[in-house]
Amino acid sequence: MCGISGIVHSENIGRNLFNSIRNLEYRGYDSCGMAMLRQGELDLRKNVGGIDEVNSLEKLDQMQGSIGIAHTRWATHGGVTQENAHPHLSPNRQFVIVHNGIISNYQELRERLLKNGVVFESLTDTEVFVNLLEESYSNCNDLEKAFLAALGQIEGSFSIVMLSSHDPDHLYCVKKESPLLLGLGEGCNYVGSDLNAFLEYTRKAVVLDDGEYVVLGKNDYQIRKLQTRELVEKKVLHIDWDVETSKRGGYSHYMLKEIFDEPQTVRQALKIPLGQISGLATMFTESSRAYLMGVGTTYYVANISQYFFSTLADRYYPALSSDEFSVVNVESGDMVLALSQSGETYDTKSSLEYAKVHGAQTAAVVNVMGSAISMMVDQVIMQGSGPEICVVSTKAALAQTFIMLRVALELGRMRQQITLDVYQEHQRDLELFPQMVEQILNEQSGFVRNIARATSHVEHWLFLGCGVYYPVAMESALKMKEITYQHAEGMPAGFLKHGTLSMVEPALHSLFFVPLPEQKDLHDRTLIAMEQVKARGGTVIGIMFQGDERALAVTDQAVLLPQMSALCAPMAQMIMAQMFAYYAALDLGRNIDKPRNLAKSVTVG
Ligand code: F6R
Repeated sequence: MCGISGIVHSENIGRNLFNSIRNLEYRGYDSCGMAMLRQGELDLRKNVGGIDEVNSLEKLDQMQGSIGIAHTRWATHGGVTQENAHPHLSPNRQFVIVHNGIISNYQELRERLLKNGVVFESLTDTEVFVNLLEESYSNCNDLEKAFLAALGQIEGSFSIVMLSSHDPDHLYCVKKESPLLLGLGEGCNYVGSDLNAFLEYTRKAVVLDDGEYVVLGKNDYQIRKLQTRELVEKKVLHIDWDVETSKRGGYSHYMLKEIFDEPQTVRQALKIPLGQISGLATMFTESSRAYLMGVGTTYYVANISQYFFSTLADRYYPALSSDEFSVVNVESGDMVLALSQSGETYDTKSSLEYAKVHGAQTAAVVNVMGSAISMMVDQVIMQGSGPEICVVSTKAALAQTFIMLRVALELGRMRQQITLDVYQEHQRDLELFPQMVEQILNEQSGFVRNIARATSHVEHWLFLGCGVYYPVAMESALKMKEITYQHAEGMPAGFLKHGTLSMVEPALHSLFFVPLPEQKDLHDRTLIAMEQVKARGGTVIGIMFQGDERALAVTDQAVLLPQMSALCAPMAQMIMAQMFAYYAALDLGRNIDKPRNLAKSVTVG
């Protein structure tokens, strides 16, 4: 997954285009480049490294021109080299493109072009397309026709933006199963693979649908259907995300800033109208079978939600990882609810398509407005968490968890599994939660930091919990792995004695997610596992609640949270674990906002 940006203006745009890929860097960051048209000639600069690194080598921000395209890459086809970086220029230097996605038939196209004497510079699937453009243009001498003729030969999923010296006033863009949006300014227009490409310059956006292409000028744009060339009228969206919230503020990393955004994110989740929450709950009541789906962190949010539905609404809805969803035989009458921050994740999107084809109803909780998943489902809740820039998900995951808790609570009320008194008491707990999040972030960060610092050398961790704290442990282990590159294995605390206990020794650290003592069964079971580890000389760290003397007695170090409702306790622990991973990674000097080998939204299978 990579980031695309393009600008058409009447003024010099070098600096703005550079800023725009910088704002997309979280989408991919192993190489980047820019191409601009200057005095009729295409100027291309690209190299390997993060945006600032490449800029110091290539002076991207000093490029001149009023029309240009840019790209930040996360390698899929072809290694991380200067040649493989985008943009890609045609051999005659008249066409330059940036591309996201995969041209699936590139091998056969490449072979045909090689036979015609084309010399390739890179190993990418993308480079075949600039050669097809050159070939098509020499046949018809019409840029739009050449663009369409070249597109007619490629298969796969892609978004492409082309700039050519044959038309100094327009960018040519196409979208097929890979996101692309337009940003509409005054006397200037933008194109980007997501809103962050142009949010700094305009709030007006148009979301392109699959099979549409655009000829984009500074004062005009025409969107047409690829198949028929018919003009398409599109709705202009007003994006209410605050640019400032997407900036790092005074924080040293986006991850930390986004953790500290969490009180606000939960407030936003509380503001989602009850009608939307109960609409989703009603959808569950009307379905014969329902499944919860996500991948990576959102899979764990689905798992946490599974416990919410069981305990509050007496309904068991299995949680599945999107990449494994095809094992389920969905049919008409079933429902699939997907969770996705980006709304563009390939595994989740294709599983939703599979569910739709088989007649199931679909729903989603999504953060990014205009994203593919938000547009394709029958019912969507936009979580409104604001841009999440750090590659690992924190505030978006917390907000999704909170929203799912609201849905489960509503379903519990509808199904009369909870009395009105209990429902109202739970609602009060939810309303108090943003304040509680604020309090624990302020009070606990120092303690968490000290424990993380003291244990950052630990290479192997077990993260353990019972009941709903088990998926919290799993999600927290994922966070730890992602940003520290240390090994952390999440598992149910009761599972430990069935094998993994053999690994316990002082160097193996166990982080326990200890329930409130009033959650007696869960608490007892967790304590048994803690004692088993302790008795075998293992090191025990606990995230627990104040006053829990029993748990404290078996821990080497503990984070002590204030008393709170059992409903909110797992989410509070999730936040502490995010912070724990952050500080451990900080101590290890990791690239926290952009961990190696990862990208923010994985739009490939
Ligand atoms: C982990 C993380 C990933 C994503 C996963 C799904 O911190 O961010 O595991 O949760 O790739 O992405 P979305 O939510 O965009 O569908």
